[in-house]
Parts: sequence; C-alpha cells; structure tokens
Amino acid sequence: MTDEKPITIRDLTARKRGEKIVMVTAYDALFARIVDEAGVDAILVGDSLGNVVAGLDSTLGVTLDQMIYHATAARRGCRRALLVVDLPFMTYQVSAEDAMRSAGRVMQETGAQAVKLEGGAPSRAESVRRVVEMGVPVMGHLGFTPQSVHALGGARVQGRDDAGERRLLEEAKRLEDAGAFAIVLELMPAAVARRVTEAVTVPTIGIGAGAGCDGQVLVLHDMLGLNSGFAPKFLKRYAELGDAAREAIRTFAAETREGRYPDDAHSF
Ligand code: KIV
Repeated sequence: MTDEKPITIRDLTARKRGEKIVMVTAYDALFARIVDEAGVDAILVGDSLGNVVAGLDSTLGVTLDQMIYHATAARRGCRRALLVVDLPFMTYQVSAEDAMRSAGRVMQETGAQAVKLEGGAPSRAESVRRVVEMGVPVMGHLGFTPQSVHALGGARVQGRDDAGERRLLEEAKRLEDAGAFAIVLELMPAAVARRVTEAVTVPTIGIGAGAGCDGQVLVLHDMLGLNSGFAPKFLKRYAELGDAAREAIRTFAAETREGRYPDDAHSF
C-alpha cells in the first residue's frame, strides 16, 4: 500500500542519491490512473505522445494546445504522483517570454506541478531561470533531445567523446544554476550519465543512460509492449500487452463470427 500523500518537488529533490525516482509517461486519465495506482513518483505527459499516440515520426508536430488537452486528462487520473508536462517544439525556443507564457498556460490550464523543456545552451538556461522565477518548477532534458532530432542526425547516443561529455557536464551545471529541480538524461553512455549525476546537486532521471542516475523514466506504451515495432537497446518490456490485445480481439472476432458471442451470460 503506497503512502497517499501527493509527491512534491521537495520530495523529489530530497531523493538525490537516495531512493531512486520512478517516472513513467501517461497521456490520458485512464493510463495516468493505472500508473499512479502502481505507485510511481512522477507522471510525465511527454511530447512523445506525438510518436506514440498521434503516429507522427517525430515530436516536432505536437502543439501546446495538444499538450494541454492530454495533460488535463492525465491530471484527472493522477492522485499522488507529481505531474510534469513537456513544453513542445516552438513554444519556448524563440524567447524567454515564449517559455514563460507557455509554462504559465500549462500550469494554469492543466493543474500540473512542473514543466519540462529540452536543451542546456546559455539562452535555454536563461529561459529556465525566468520560468523558475515565475514560480514554475522546471525539469531539464539533456543528451538526445527529441525536438532536435534532425540536428542530431537521429536518435543517437550523445556524449561519446570528450568534447561531447564536457558539453553535457556544462549544460547540466548551467541548468542547475538556472534553478531546474531535476534533469532527464537521455541516450548517453552510462559512465557519462554517472559523472553528470555526480557533478550536479539536483536529481537526474535517465532513459537509455545507465544505472548511475538518480531515477529512471520510460515511455509507458513502450515498457508495456504496446508499441511492438520500437525496440531500442535500453528498453526493457515489462509486459506484452500488444500481443495480449491482438489475441483478445482475435478471440472476440472468432466468437462473433461463430455465433458464440454473446451467449446467455452476456445477454439480457
Ligand atoms: O516525451 C517524452 O516522453 C520524454 C521522455 C522520453 C523522457 O521526454
């Protein structure tokens, strides 16, 4: 039985080098309820919803209105976990003012407790600082940042060479200085993620970044085996719900065609 007290930003930051943080994505009320009931610490309404539920080939087409729609639904299913919402492409890259307005809309319209944005360049850190100054908690995201998929040449492991590792360390320090309360580290060698984690005082949450982070995040549909075509090395499937769903639907179809459904037990 999990403690029912809602998780706060302070609870998460206190986990630095303590009990690992568990974060999972959810894009609607039904899955948010399942994820929340399973006792995760944070639910991420990720812009990965563009790939996972909208069928896009990148996250670039996702809009702020779409994120707000999904986050509002997820909020209804979320009782205890901290709800974090991605700011999608073009809602914070142009200016700090854009970042502030977008973050403000997410907080005001969805009931989320934090926003997440990608990148650690000086201008991005300045946007993080301004959003944090508004009173909105910000989670950073470094390494492979999906909104830069084309600039990065695809979903590739980052920080493999010395210069890449140095850049990740600088960016992480910059985000920490700007006031980010946690940083997602995506697709980087485990040793690099460990060194980044040791270099900052805020928790890191890894995805494809090894075991040295302060927590782990996975995309729900991927870890449940609903997205059978997606099988990167880091992904562990904890269930095969796609296969189970196909099998259930085949059985329904067969029983319907054979006149075995509905039987007396399922008829009025
Ligand atoms: O959009 C998303 O789901 C994410 C996770 C992969 C961290 O950013």
